[in-house]
Amino acid sequence: MTEAWRPDDEDERSRRGAWGSVKVRVPAKINLRLSVGPLRPDGYHEIGTVYHAIALYDELTAREGDNLTLTMDGEGTGVLALDESNLVIRAARALAAHARVPANARLHLRKQIPLAGGLAGGSADAAAALVACDELWGTGLSRDELAGLAADLGSDVPFLLYGGTAVGTGRGESVSPVLARPTTWHWVVAVADGGLSTPQVYAELDRLRATDAAPPPVGQSDDLLAALRQRDPLVLAAALGNDLQPAALSLRPALADVLDTGVAAGALAGLVSGSGPTCVFLAADGKQAEAVADALADAGVCRDVHLAYGAVPGARLV
Ligand code: C5P
Repeated sequence: MTEAWRPDDEDERSRRGAWGSVKVRVPAKINLRLSVGPLRPDGYHEIGTVYHAIALYDELTAREGDNLTLTMDGEGTGVLALDESNLVIRAARALAAHARVPANARLHLRKQIPLAGGLAGGSADAAAALVACDELWGTGLSRDELAGLAADLGSDVPFLLYGGTAVGTGRGESVSPVLARPTTWHWVVAVADGGLSTPQVYAELDRLRATDAAPPPVGQSDDLLAALRQRDPLVLAAALGNDLQPAALSLRPALADVLDTGVAAGALAGLVSGSGPTCVFLAADGKQAEAVADALADAGVCRDVHLAYGAVPGARLV
């Protein structure tokens, strides 16, 4: 007797495709608010942040293989190490060890998110690898189980599994979604030449703060969450903020020109994304975003400009 295909099998068959491969798309993140508290004994800073996933994507394809390999094209090709140090490989190995399956897959990364840009591109790729390998290997972990593995790979990796807009606490790995009516926010992303090292930017913040009597406690984001609920870009613009911005500007003073150019072109606000050097601008609508993007490109103050909207879901099979 031939067993009928169950709907689950149909879904799995179509997702894996005829060639035993799966594809995952994962967004970049920005921080609508990044409040940095004191340095902890473990070398991380306590933070309070509001993460926001934007429509600028990397894609990871996973195919059956005899061992674990990684190839790539796009941003960072020839620069990004594809060996055991790569977060994609580390994510795949972490899942294989957890699920007690062989870590066999041929992974290919198509990168659009710039390296070391403050957009969590490496973390996004790790989240994509967890979702892709979980599907390829049929290990069937829940998002929350994957988030447990993700936290060990990097502070931003759990958020990239969920996406949307979410509050991050601890060192950023503890994530809870922001419940607000869906709103499309329009962003312009100004990509700088070269990256900034996240540990160096945090260290620069500590240096700048060294004269303060006591490190500040982690700030609250209540006003930003209220602004999201109001769904008014002008109100959100006034609530955006990033404690790492002075440190990024100290290491890369030319970013001030980028911020000034975007705001002069009509952006409601501009800020450094995470540890930088990418700058992001909030626009009132798509038309204003295009005008800001054109002005940034014409001024020649950045390497590349993207239009992106948020919030979008995290790492997903496509
Ligand atoms: O978690 P992740 O590996 O992405 O962090 C990279 C580095 O950024 C850490 O080693 C640390 O120097 C710095 N960091 C920090 N506080 C955080 C997150 C990251 O100091 N909350």
